[in-house]
Amino acid sequence: MIEEKAPGKLYIAGEYAVIEPGNSAILVAVDRFLRVRLEPTEGLGSLASSQYGRLPVRWRRSGDALVLDREENPFDYVLSAISVTEKYAREHGRSLGIYHLTIDSQLDDFSGRKYGLGSSGAVTVATIKVLARFYDLTLSPLTLFKLAALAQIDIQPNGSCGDLAASAYGGWIAYTAFDRDWARRERAGRSVSAMVELDWPHLEVRPLRAPFDLRLIIGWTGAPASTPALVAMVQARKQRRETHYEEFLAGAKACLASMIDAFDTGSTARIQQQVRIYRKLLHALGQGAETGIETPALDLLCAEAERFGGAAKTSGAGGGDCGIALFDDSIDLTPLFEAWTRGGILPLTLQVFDETRHP
Ligand code: MEV
Repeated sequence: MIEEKAPGKLYIAGEYAVIEPGNSAILVAVDRFLRVRLEPTEGLGSLASSQYGRLPVRWRRSGDALVLDREENPFDYVLSAISVTEKYAREHGRSLGIYHLTIDSQLDDFSGRKYGLGSSGAVTVATIKVLARFYDLTLSPLTLFKLAALAQIDIQPNGSCGDLAASAYGGWIAYTAFDRDWARRERAGRSVSAMVELDWPHLEVRPLRAPFDLRLIIGWTGAPASTPALVAMVQARKQRRETHYEEFLAGAKACLASMIDAFDTGSTARIQQQVRIYRKLLHALGQGAETGIETPALDLLCAEAERFGGAAKTSGAGGGDCGIALFDDSIDLTPLFEAWTRGGILPLTLQVFDETRHP
């Protein structure tokens, strides 16, 4: 039996803008995990998940392909990760095996709750990691990211893959999105290994060092949000010119450049200043839309954090799920947690997860 895990993630800044290739986001991995367990078997393989609470999906091999025993399956991300990793394994001379996979998630749908911590990204990364061990392949974080991105671009064509980078690298990162159209074009007729060897236009994942006095606080609104629906809403408004999208992108670029510089120079105050600016940019982006990026619960979460001296914003697509707040660690957060709890916001006690520092 082999088990691998991948962490959940939160966006600190750059969401929506990072959908455009060449734009950056800052993300952080947190110590809540999705685990995938692999048990070698013979005959039929299967996939079960306590996360989705559904019956196992079964498969058999036909040549190099996995053939499912039923048409409908909710495990697109897992199957795509298997397909990409097994092509890569074959190209490295491995013969394919049969196995049962079991998924356990502390991210979405854990105890029936949904936090929006990036479960689709984490399940993709954890599946690739467990298969890499099964097939005795050593993957660098960059190769792991590229395999995960190749698995994800078909299923979530508008996704930036920022969640994959956070899950694959851990810690705090500055992620610059690659050109997904380029990747879709280039991989036609190329092996997965050849694709992984290429330099991907714009792609950069750079670990950041957080200032020693920076404290990350997370609040959960209790309301589940749909990232694909919110991204589609923003894209539709962009097409109909209902939003000042170009201004948003220009503002986001400047904000991210300043925030990355603030990380590099270790300034908590400047990071907080840029978080406040990004919150305003997201406000303007969602203004007039039926479904808000910042819901009333997220507004309360941010306003209370500001009142006690923090900088706060939605994280990821918004619309519910979690919000983040950044504080200088000299501030006593007890009154904030009480105010959040009174307002229906649950403080989550999560730590930054960085495997390179805490293996
Ligand atoms: C969602 O977590 C973040 C977005 O930027 C979408 C994406 O990057 O794929 C809204």
